[in-house]
Amino acid sequence: MKLTKLLLIVLTTSCIHFANGQITNIIPEPFQLTKGTGTYTLPKSITINAPTIANVIADEIAGKLKATTGRIVGFTKNKSTINLQIVNDPNLGTEGYTLDINEKGIQIKANANAGLFYGWQTILQLLPAGIYAATLQENTNWTLPFISIIDKPRFGWRGMMLDVSRHFFSKAEVKTFIDDMARYKLNRFHWHLTDDQGWRIEIKALPKLTSVGAWRPERKGKWANITAPSKDEPKTYGGFYTQEDIKEVVAYAKTKFIEVVPEIDVPGHSLAFNTAYPNMSTTPNYPFQVNAGEEFMDWEGLNGHVTARFDNSLDPSNEEVYTNLDKIFTEVAALFPFEYIHTGGDENAKNNWDKSANVHALMKKEGLKNQNEVQSYFVRRIQKMVNSKGKKLMGWDEILQGGLSGDAAVMSWQGIKGGIEAAKQGHKIVMSPNDYNYIDFYQGEATAEGKVYRGLRMKTTYSYEPIPEGIDPNLVLGNQANQWSEQLLNFRSVQYMTWPRGMAVAETSWSPKEKKDWKSFSKKVEQQFEKLDAAQVKYAKSIYDPIVTTKLNTKGELIVAMEGEVEDLKFYYSLDESMPDNYSDEYTTSFVLPEDVTILRVIGYRGGKAIGKMLNIPMESLKKRAVKVL
Ligand code: ACM
Repeated sequence: MKLTKLLLIVLTTSCIHFANGQITNIIPEPFQLTKGTGTYTLPKSITINAPTIANVIADEIAGKLKATTGRIVGFTKNKSTINLQIVNDPNLGTEGYTLDINEKGIQIKANANAGLFYGWQTILQLLPAGIYAATLQENTNWTLPFISIIDKPRFGWRGMMLDVSRHFFSKAEVKTFIDDMARYKLNRFHWHLTDDQGWRIEIKALPKLTSVGAWRPERKGKWANITAPSKDEPKTYGGFYTQEDIKEVVAYAKTKFIEVVPEIDVPGHSLAFNTAYPNMSTTPNYPFQVNAGEEFMDWEGLNGHVTARFDNSLDPSNEEVYTNLDKIFTEVAALFPFEYIHTGGDENAKNNWDKSANVHALMKKEGLKNQNEVQSYFVRRIQKMVNSKGKKLMGWDEILQGGLSGDAAVMSWQGIKGGIEAAKQGHKIVMSPNDYNYIDFYQGEATAEGKVYRGLRMKTTYSYEPIPEGIDPNLVLGNQANQWSEQLLNFRSVQYMTWPRGMAVAETSWSPKEKKDWKSFSKKVEQQFEKLDAAQVKYAKSIYDPIVTTKLNTKGELIVAMEGEVEDLKFYYSLDESMPDNYSDEYTTSFVLPEDVTILRVIGYRGGKAIGKMLNIPMESLKKRAVKVL
């Protein structure tokens, strides 16, 4: 009797444990999951049963299994190894699915192919890591746990942005970015196609946008500290996507159930545009050059108060600007089937507008009281244009300045206040606050990473709740991470900054709020590393590095503290410039740093093995980060 009771307790506990998402390695955590007992091994000869409408999914499954497991895969209309079924289940919506794996095989049901695709992504996560490899993996036991899942997303917009202007990424790399998103059920690829550093989309009516605007002298170095190009320097760096390339990427994304959101960033961030067509600016005689990374903006006081040393805004008083934008949006609307076109609107410097007699004449004529209202006038005009092409406008939160109307949606990036304000005015919003979702910020210790603005730990990204308090939650389309590329000179760096933090964004975007749990999530992330290795995706292992903080006490002494982002780590350090290992001093509690120390070296260990990288933090950096006097 006692034993039965104990067994019951153990079973119940493990059930709760499981219900809380502690056991599987699925990211994002499913809506509901019940584990069975037992495993199912893929047979030597696999059959797939799918309705005709789901043939594309069946083909994808077959292709992957053949290539990586080497199994023989065929199709039948009878009960099969893998059964795909289209159902009519109001609880699943357009992207939900159920997945059952038991002794009879694998069954995925969904209302539409998107759900079947997501069910397949879940199966891939349940299989051994090698399944993510592109090539045949011999000697693998292709075994899955018995499991029953009901799954559907929390948000319809699960986005990730890639900036291809600051640095250019090839069509193949863009497709890889899309592949990487799809594994974690992200479904909106926001393509930041234009900026001061390059115009990247072919516009047939305005060929100079790419023949001139896509090119600049090549530079390597620290963003904003780059040597300014001389006037006649060869413009060897750049590139753009032809309209055929764009169609190919849009069609490719569609196969992964990802919609592509194009961004044409206007009226600011338009230095490449102005270089191609200088009469589009309020300073038409300026010798424009596509920016190569040299500093040209004064950023103090965002919120509409940036100033441009070279005019990177379009002239809102020039009708030809609107004629050209109409040509651009006509071609963009024809290329991208998605309902929104993102028209940017961020960080528009108004100092050149303010100096323009034509802009002041426009203000008088239209009764515009200030430059924010001029910007709002500009946004209203392009909104009408975008609407006339059958699309809705979305913009960064600055489009709220001076008033916003109609069905425009706002992407909140300067924290959450823009999103809140927009929702209070009844606009739909996507939340991508820089404090949580700017995945161009380094993931680990500042002194060990490339320099871009600042750091953002995955744990912080994971803690984000996308529905702000006090607004109608139905206006929140979803959540998005942004990958700006100022400091990303190659695609491996894009991946390194994106992963694993993108998984945190994916789980926040898909999983029920109450299912989120950092401890179990971070364990799942570690299991994903093996999968990313198999997929040859670069990623950061910053979770194994301590978060090193310092404080100054009243005696002026520097107190050092270290904290693990994940569990079960030991940190060993040295203060004498030697390379620490697990025989060195182990960090247990905060300590006073002797004043003559030049460098703190520290490394993370788990289970007696070095797992983190050696951090080498100079005294100067430790002093700089000291937060407050105790
Ligand atoms: C932005 O980060 N400027 C939208």
